[in-house]
Amino acid sequence: MNSESLKKMVGEVAAQQVQSGQKLGLGTGSTIRYFLEALQLRLQSGELDGIIGVPTSIQTEQQAIQLGIPLTTLAEQPQLDLTVDGADEVDPQFDLIKGLGGALLREKIVAATSSRFIVIVDESKMVVQLGTRCPLPIEVLPFGWEATSRSILALDGQPELRFADEKPFQTDQGNYILNTTFDGISDAPRLAAQLDAIPGVLGHGLFLNLATSVIVGTDSGPRVLSR
Ligand code: A5P
Repeated sequence: MNSESLKKMVGEVAAQQVQSGQKLGLGTGSTIRYFLEALQLRLQSGELDGIIGVPTSIQTEQQAIQLGIPLTTLAEQPQLDLTVDGADEVDPQFDLIKGLGGALLREKIVAATSSRFIVIVDESKMVVQLGTRCPLPIEVLPFGWEATSRSILALDGQPELRFADEKPFQTDQGNYILNTTFDGISDAPRLAAQLDAIPGVLGHGLFLNLATSVIVGTDSGPRVLSR
């Protein structure tokens, strides 16, 4: 099965987990697109009603509006029932790297306000150790980003400013992203604490102890892993 079919599979399984009346966090990315489409089909058929979602990016907000999924904000709904989001790496403890799509800051805020956080991935995202498949995205303030980058370098990371269309990529908040390569991340909680302590670092893609279950798309069907 190709990766699009696997993403569609997990998006559909996750949409089945949603119940009428729930307040949802809506993740960002190509896998979430399939989740939103499956959610819309359930709404259209009348199988689901009364749901409302907080989007984690402008992209997801636009997709949800096109699909007619009702939206709200954390100002109106600061406690959510369920967030569904993709990931770039998932380790055996359900710790994650997220943010290759650039929405990590809002995604983490939304996931942290949710009673349940379901992660949907195709099996290529499963890793034994974080930091072995993709760089860690770190969101930094544009002001003084070069100095922030040097502090990250001192943690044995190799930060590289992310570009889009030959300009520094800007997040929905107007910040920069440093894609930071590590030679595998052996102590993710320690690295997360070190990054959180650097002035200029606004957020990073280590999502530790947040996911409550993971739905993995495999050639032999979806596998639902729960804590
Ligand atoms: C967005 O910022 C990311 O955290 C995405 O959730 C993650 O990159 C997964 O995206 P895909 O489903 O497109 O692989």
